[in-house]
Amino acid sequence: MSPLSRLALLWTLPAVLGLPNSTPLATPTPSPVEQRDVASFVGGVGNDIVSAVSDVGQFFQDLPTGTAVEKALGISASDLAAKPTEVLNLPSYGNWTDDGWNVLVHGNVYKVPNTTQSKLDDLANVFLVGTDIEDLSPAEQNQARNLTASIYVVQQGEVNVTITFVNDVDVDPQNDGGAVNAAGGAQSIQLPDETTSQGDFGAWLLLANTTGPNPKDGYLVPGNITDRVQTLSMYASGTNTGNATAYLVPPKGVTIISDIDDILRITKIWDPKEGLLNSFARPFTPWMNMPDIYSDWSQTNRDFHFHYLTTTPEQATRNYMEFIFAKYPIGSFDTRPLNFSDVSATLSIRKFLLDRIFQTFPERKFILVGDTSNSDVMKAYPQLNKDYPGNVLCILLRNSSSTDSTDHFPYDTSGFEGMPQSQYMFFNVPDDLRGLDVAKGECYNVTVRQNVTFGLQGFSLDSGTGVPRPNVWGLVLGLGVIFGLVF
Ligand SMILES: *[C@@H]1O[C@H](CO)[C@@H](O)[C@H](O)[C@H]1NC(C)=O
Ligand SMILES: *[C@@H]1O[C@H](CO)[C@@H](O)[C@H](O)[C@H]1NC(C)=O
Ligand SMILES: *[C@@H]1O[C@H](CO)[C@@H](O)[C@H](O)[C@H]1NC(C)=O
Ligand SMILES: *[C@@H]1O[C@H](CO)[C@@H](O)[C@H](O)[C@H]1NC(C)=O
Ligand SMILES: *[C@@H]1O[C@H](CO)[C@@H](O)[C@H](O)[C@H]1NC(C)=O
Ligand SMILES: *[C@@H]1O[C@H](CO)[C@@H](O)[C@H](O)[C@H]1NC(C)=O
Ligand SMILES: *[C@@H]1O[C@H](CO)[C@@H](O)[C@H](O)[C@H]1NC(C)=O
Ligand SMILES: *[C@@H]1O[C@H](CO)[C@@H](O)[C@H](O)[C@H]1NC(C)=O
Ligand SMILES: *[C@@H]1O[C@H](CO)[C@@H](O)[C@H](O)[C@H]1NC(C)=O
Ligand SMILES: *[C@@H]1O[C@H](CO)[C@@H](O)[C@H](O)[C@H]1NC(C)=O
Ligand SMILES: *[C@@H]1O[C@H](CO)[C@@H](O)[C@H](O)[C@H]1NC(C)=O
Repeated sequence: MSPLSRLALLWTLPAVLGLPNSTPLATPTPSPVEQRDVASFVGGVGNDIVSAVSDVGQFFQDLPTGTAVEKALGISASDLAAKPTEVLNLPSYGNWTDDGWNVLVHGNVYKVPNTTQSKLDDLANVFLVGTDIEDLSPAEQNQARNLTASIYVVQQGEVNVTITFVNDVDVDPQNDGGAVNAAGGAQSIQLPDETTSQGDFGAWLLLANTTGPNPKDGYLVPGNITDRVQTLSMYASGTNTGNATAYLVPPKGVTIISDIDDILRITKIWDPKEGLLNSFARPFTPWMNMPDIYSDWSQTNRDFHFHYLTTTPEQATRNYMEFIFAKYPIGSFDTRPLNFSDVSATLSIRKFLLDRIFQTFPERKFILVGDTSNSDVMKAYPQLNKDYPGNVLCILLRNSSSTDSTDHFPYDTSGFEGMPQSQYMFFNVPDDLRGLDVAKGECYNVTVRQNVTFGLQGFSLDSGTGVPRPNVWGLVLGLGVIFGLVF
C-alpha cells in the first residue's frame, strides 16, 4: 500500500473512536481541491512545516476521554462504579526555596472499564493501521491490548488526591541517576484542588521538614548545602497504582532534559506505519547504544539530574516510564497532560513544560537532547537559548536522516543560526557523544562533520506545480496523524 492509502485509513479514525467535536470525515483520498488547499497552505507558510501539520492534523483531535470511552466500549457510568480508582502519578521534581522543598505533583485519576478481548482487539486494530492484531506475536498482542486499554480509560474528575511521602526509594545503583535516598521527609498532604474534569491533578506542595520516630532518621538536606539530588517515594492514597518518585533537585548543577522517541528508543516517527507499530505493539527498544552514553554521564557526574520530557499523551506514559527506568538513569518525567490534547496545544505543550522546568531552576544549566525529526524540539530548544541566556549548556540533536535512509522528514535548522558551534552538535550515532565532558560544556565533537545550512532541510516541492512531492505528502499527513493521536 502506498503511504497515502495507508494513511487514508486513518482518516476514518474520529468516527471509529466516536470523538467529540470531530470534523466531518474527509474522503479517503483528498479531492484535488483539498490537495490544492493544503499545498497552497504549505507553500503559503513557507518554511513553517509545523503549521502545515497542524492544519492537516485538525482531523485528529484528542484521544477519547470520559463519555467517548464509555460509548466506544458500550458501557455506562454505573458499570464503572464497582471498579477501583487508579492513579497515574508521574515522577516529578522539586526545587529549594526560602520556605523549604517545593515539589510538583502531577498525574491523572481514572478507572479502567471492563471490556472484552474482542472489543479491545477491534480498537487496537484501529491504531495498528493495516496490521491485524492476530498477525502479531503473543507478546506484541499483549502490548497492543495493554496500550489500547490504557487509552480507553475513564478519567475521574472532581476527586481529591492525597500523597504520602516516604524516604524508602530502593534503586539499582547501576541506574540510580546519582540520586540519593532522602533522610526524613515523611508526611501526607492532600492536594489543594480536586482533579480537573479530565481527571488531571497538578500542584506544588511545600514539604515540612520532618524526621522519623527515631532521631537517627535524620532530616531532608537543604538544597543549598548539597549538590546531590534527593529522592522520596510518593504514594497516592487509596490505590497501589499511584507510586512514583519525587526528585529534590538543588538550585545549582546540571540537568539533562531528554526527549525519548527516536533518541532514547527506536520509534521511526517519520514512517507512520512503523511509528505506530513501534508505539503500540513492539516492545520498546533502545536506539543503538544510547543507554551506555547516559550511563557514562550518570556515573561520571553523580550530581546530574535527569528529566525525561516527552509530549506523548499521558495515557501512554506507563510504557515509557517502564522502558526508561529499565534502560536509562532514573529521573523525573513530563508527558502531555489532557488539557493539552487538542492539536494546537500539541504544538505548545513542549514549550510549556520546558519553560516550567527552566523557571523552576533559574540557576541550573541544561543539556537538551533530541532528534531532528521532531519539529517542536527543533524550534523549542534553540529558542530556550535565547529566552534563558546562560542556562543552556548544550543542545545535542541526533540527525535521524543520516542513519535512517527512510527518514525524508523535513526539519528546520534556522533556530540555530548565530549559536556558537561549541554549544550544539548534530550527531549521527551515540558514539559521537562518547568522551565529551558535557558537564563542562563540551558539546561538540570535532570529528563529527557539521555542514549545517540554516533553514528548512529535506523539503522538496515539485518544481512544475509547486505541490509537495508524494513522499512529502505522506509525511506531512503522517505526522499529523501521529501528532494528533500518538505523540
Ligand atoms: C540556605 O537556604 C536557606 C533558605 O533560603 C537560608 O536560610 C540559608 O542561609 C542558606 N544557607 C546557605 C549556606 O546558603
Ligand atoms: C467485570 O468482568 C468480570 C469478569 O469478566 C466480572 O466478574 C465482573 O462482575 C465485571 N465487573 C463489572 C463492574 O461489570
Ligand atoms: C499495562 O501494563 C502496565 C505494566 O506492564 C500496567 O501497570 C498497567 O496497569 C497495564 N494497563 C492496563 C490498562 O491494563
Ligand atoms: C475534597 O476536599 C475538600 C477539602 O477537604 C472538601 O471540601 C471537598 O468536599 C472534597 N471533595 C470530595 C469530592 O470529596
Ligand atoms: C493545563 O493545566 C495547567 C495546570 O495543571 C495550566 O498551568 C495550563 O495553563 C493548562 N493549559 C491549557 C492549555 O489549558
Ligand atoms: C530540617 O531541620 C533540621 C534540624 O533543625 C536541620 O538540620 C535541617 O537542615 C533542616 N532541613 C531542611 C530541608 O530545612
Ligand atoms: C506501590 O507501593 C506499595 C507500597 O510499597 C506496594 O505495596 C505496591 O505493590 C506498589 N505498587 C506497584 C504497582 O508496584
Ligand atoms: C521554585 O519553583 C517555582 C515553580 O516553578 C517557581 O515559581 C519559583 O520561583 C522557584 N523558586 C526558586 C527559589 O527558584
Ligand atoms: C543530516 O544528515 C544528512 C545526511 O547525511 C545531511 O545531508 C544533512 O546535512 C545532515 N543535517 C545536519 C543538520 O547536519
Ligand atoms: C567523537 O566521535 C568519534 C566518532 O564517533 C568517537 O570515536 C569519539 O569517541 C568521539 N569523542 C571524542 C571526544 O572525540
Ligand atoms: C555542505 O552542504 C552543501 C549544501 O547542502 C553542499 O553543497 C556541500 O557539498 C556540503 N559540503 C560538504 C563538505 O559536504
